[in-house]
Amino acid sequence: MTAYQTRLLSASPPDIAAAAEYLRRGELVGIPTETVYGLAADATNEQAVARIFAAKGRPQDNPLIVHVAQLCDVEPLVTAFPPEAQKLAQAFWPGPLTIILPRSPRIPASVSAGLDTVAVRMPSHPVAQAIIRAAGLPLAAPSANLSGSPSPTTAAHVMADMAGRIPAVVDGGPCGVGVESTVVSVSPGCARVLRPGGVTPAMLQKVLPHVEVDPAVTHPLADGQRAASPGMKYKHYSPRARVILVKASPQGFAQFVNRQAAAKPEGLMALCFDGEETSLAVPFLTYGRRDDANEQAQQLFNALRQLDERGAALVYAACPSDQGVGLAVYNRILRAAGFEVITLDR
Ligand code: TXA
Ligand code: MG
Repeated sequence: MTAYQTRLLSASPPDIAAAAEYLRRGELVGIPTETVYGLAADATNEQAVARIFAAKGRPQDNPLIVHVAQLCDVEPLVTAFPPEAQKLAQAFWPGPLTIILPRSPRIPASVSAGLDTVAVRMPSHPVAQAIIRAAGLPLAAPSANLSGSPSPTTAAHVMADMAGRIPAVVDGGPCGVGVESTVVSVSPGCARVLRPGGVTPAMLQKVLPHVEVDPAVTHPLADGQRAASPGMKYKHYSPRARVILVKASPQGFAQFVNRQAAAKPEGLMALCFDGEETSLAVPFLTYGRRDDANEQAQQLFNALRQLDERGAALVYAACPSDQGVGLAVYNRILRAAGFEVITLDR
């Protein structure tokens, strides 16, 4: 891999033009979106796409999302755009929704890890929009983290993982949503959530009457079971620390953690909700208020990164609600915990 002196670009017009120029030359650029930062490349250039997998250390069998700026950009990428998908696009684009569609030959098979489908998304972030338009290309972009670590929600996170590996990162400020897009597949009259995100099942249901949530969202895959969304089979979003999710009341959580602390385990930390840290006798980080899933989504990945910076070895994390955007927060923290959950009496 080439060693780069990674440039931190701003969202000014000349810097956007510079980012677009890298992309047209087949290079990678870290870009802000409303969900998380993406590691973008020309989705029609096989060599550029190969660089994404190399820079992230990403398994070759985990497909990428292709980002477009406007509806007319979708047509060349797909062989069909079924009415269900069009309704969802109408309702939620631009925004944090990715739709799985049949892939056209314009998109190299490596983008989709050999699948005959392609994941398409139209981000709403003005800087992402400007970069896609300036490049004049569909952009393949996974989250801009090293494979396996928490997704980046600031340009500094991208720098921490990608400095030296890519020529440039565009700083568009912290991401508004904070967790990756909702990924859906469609069939006649029906949408299936493969990965939960900012667009909730209830929101989808207002557009399509029948919405299913893939069991892999909340349960580990059984041995040999095939993932509808290949990303779901990897341990993801993980800090280096062992994370254990604790389902308990605020009081129950504090009592449990304080009891564990009595044995003085190395690097013990708590990850709890804002305002619930007062009765904790161990070092802690918070990730939003218990009743505010949007806040939790915005803060979770930064908190997971900070746990590493603070040298945490064992983290007890207060379990979020799985309702609304909470389903996305729950899904990510469950994966960070490798599905290790303790349920206490409420
Ligand atoms: O919000 C987002 O979606 C961010 C920003 C940068 O747009 N991107 C992102 O990409 O999260 P990534 O690569 O980290 O996650 C893509 C997810 C993976 O779980 C992958 O398996 C799934 O989308 N995916 C991609 N193509 C697919 C396909 N053809 N069929 C099923 N799942 C697919
Ligand atoms: Mg990712």
